[in-house]
Amino acid sequence: MELPFAESYRIKMVETIRKSTREEREQWIREAKYNLFNLRSDYVFIDMLTDSGTGAMSDKQWAALMLGDESYGGARSYYNMKEAIKEILGFDYFLPTHQGRAAENVLYSTIIKEGDILPGNSHFDTTKGHIEYRRAIPVDCTIDEAADTQLELPFKGNVDPAKLEAVLKKYPAEKIPCVVLTVTNNTAGGQPVSMQNIREVSALCKKYGVALQIDSARFAENAYFIKMREKGYADKTIKQIVKEMFGYADIMTMSSKKDAIVNMGGFVAFKSEALWKKAQMFCIMNEGFITYGGMSGRDMNALAQGLDEGTEFDYLETRIKQVEYLGARLDEYGIPYQRPVGGHALFVDAKKVLTRVPKEEFIAQTLGIELYLEAGIRGVEIGAMLADRDPVTRENRYPKLELLRLAVSRRTYTNNHMDVVAAALKNVYDRRDSITRGYRIVNEFPIMRHFTVELEPAR
Ligand code: F0G
Repeated sequence: MELPFAESYRIKMVETIRKSTREEREQWIREAKYNLFNLRSDYVFIDMLTDSGTGAMSDKQWAALMLGDESYGGARSYYNMKEAIKEILGFDYFLPTHQGRAAENVLYSTIIKEGDILPGNSHFDTTKGHIEYRRAIPVDCTIDEAADTQLELPFKGNVDPAKLEAVLKKYPAEKIPCVVLTVTNNTAGGQPVSMQNIREVSALCKKYGVALQIDSARFAENAYFIKMREKGYADKTIKQIVKEMFGYADIMTMSSKKDAIVNMGGFVAFKSEALWKKAQMFCIMNEGFITYGGMSGRDMNALAQGLDEGTEFDYLETRIKQVEYLGARLDEYGIPYQRPVGGHALFVDAKKVLTRVPKEEFIAQTLGIELYLEAGIRGVEIGAMLADRDPVTRENRYPKLELLRLAVSRRTYTNNHMDVVAAALKNVYDRRDSITRGYRIVNEFPIMRHFTVELEPAR
């Protein structure tokens, strides 16, 4: 018979997690002001808040930590990271930062002026935050089909080239510091961008004289989907595909907490030596000297090793098959989610589940709280809370989609955990008509409010 699929690693170290009672969880979530970010991790059984920095490092990464060189200037670890970035991603110049948003900070401090326009595909929240904080405007040019959760498209994270060209035509190139292409497209459901689309976006950037920045947090998962779904790529290695993807980019920002499988770290990389030099001042001021930026030597070593492991097919296949496994369980129970499943997470279509909660009461947040109460599983809202208020009118923005993201950490949970997640969701789904009340905001920050927002039951 055909052998079943199994993980491409075995487990060497474990960490205890603990179940709790519904009564305990009711008290804890109330004390956390109904904000899942505010919960102590000890109060969570299966943590799907994020896949960022939560993965399990390999034996080789832990070994690399011990060889870290902590020199302030010119550390060996810096050169290890430099070599990995050159060899795997093809960039000559880079600055290490403490995580992805710090790379955005260094880059955008260098290139954005007030009033600038940055078109892209569903900019991630910190990216949008860094742009709007500088009084510049992110313009979302994602394909319309991404908003239909039930439509099965292989590359639902794509940019609509017509939308992008309209923006590039409307404004002079001096007003557009770069186009931001996010691979995979996290906000649209961890959906990939095709190589053809990357090529088209790059051609438009060249035509209008604008730089292309790739927000690369999950670039390797994107390459996996290109290999599996795009014609002409089945026989290429992940590393070959990755090289081609970045061949089209001028700049990359990286949150290494995702596809480089480290707990902390990031970088911004440039093709242009001049731009790299210009950005150095902001790195020194905000992060650290240019050969360590926001990272310790040992972390740069683990990152270099992680970039290599993260771009191996067997690892990626194991990872993405686990997300697909969870999707198949939800299919059995008829629970609607953004189809097809994304690379790093499954995004439950909260609007289709909680049809009786008004949008003003934060539908996806309400579903997230219900799932936590059900089984101690922590997801994250990708909906009106995350969308923030309009910077000009200060009105709440209500995006088309209200999603509850269940992120799968790398090499961390087993498929038994995925079974628990699916069963808990089914229980919530079965009692969905009894859930009619959402939440209202008691306290919020003016920007990126979802991290710290305080809520209470709406009525
Ligand atoms: N870009 C994308 C596409 C991201 O998903 C993230 C982080 C960042 C940039 C910022 O990187 O966290 O290292 O500062 N995403 C995490 C998430 C937080 O849960 O999706 P960071």
